[in-house]
Amino acid sequence: MRVPMIAGNWKMNTTLSEAIELVNEMRRELDEIGNVDKVICPPFISLAAVRELINGSSIKLGAQNIYFEEKGAYTGEISPLMLSDLCEFVIIGHSERRHYFNETGEIVNKKVQAALGVGLKPILCVGERLEENEAGRTEEVVTEQLRSSLAKIDYLSGLIIAYEPVWAIGTGKAATGKQANETIGLIRRNISELYDGEIAQDMRILYGGSVNAANTTEFLNQPEIDGALVGGASLKANQFLSIVKQAAEIRGRL
Ligand code: 13P
Repeated sequence: MRVPMIAGNWKMNTTLSEAIELVNEMRRELDEIGNVDKVICPPFISLAAVRELINGSSIKLGAQNIYFEEKGAYTGEISPLMLSDLCEFVIIGHSERRHYFNETGEIVNKKVQAALGVGLKPILCVGERLEENEAGRTEEVVTEQLRSSLAKIDYLSGLIIAYEPVWAIGTGKAATGKQANETIGLIRRNISELYDGEIAQDMRILYGGSVNAANTTEFLNQPEIDGALVGGASLKANQFLSIVKQAAEIRGRL
């Protein structure tokens, strides 16, 4: 059975001291919750400090982005190698990166390859925009993103997918559990076609987009949804703890 995962994407929020404060606020309680992988993804500048704070606990650490080269003259970028001994996960292809920073499928693909190459576990994000959703193109867009992101990759070791419809991110307008479950089922079928049925069955696929403590059950009760990638609500210790606790409870019952 797939272990559920709740990952908090802090995005470009928290100074170093705020990050430390937020981790201190939830560390003890978060550590004690079993049956679910708990991942926090603070900004780069706080990774080392947060790593120290969660050392020895069951809380896992992720970054929000990487560059695909190992090292060199790429001012301002962070390489997979730099992250490899700092954290376990890295978010790749988030829609904010695709849209604000023009990340193409090809770039996302290079990043996924680079992350896997150093043993980092990518949390690969895919999702359609509002106009694509309204035009009934969700399936086509998500399939294309998935196939381009995973092109030429034979081995998906530890890769996680997050389905994040762009229209649901930061808008307070989450998808319904049923909608998200359908698209995640489609993603799983694609993985089965591209790789094999066993890899697809073992792969964790999360939903992201306006997840909060009040709507967590809607998603975690769906059979295809293995957890959530949480933005805004992961910046509030009580909200994040509540989401993680609910995930553990729901999945513990199944
Ligand atoms: P919100 O939860 O703030 O909608 O953000 C979702 C997201 O983009 C997580 O990566």
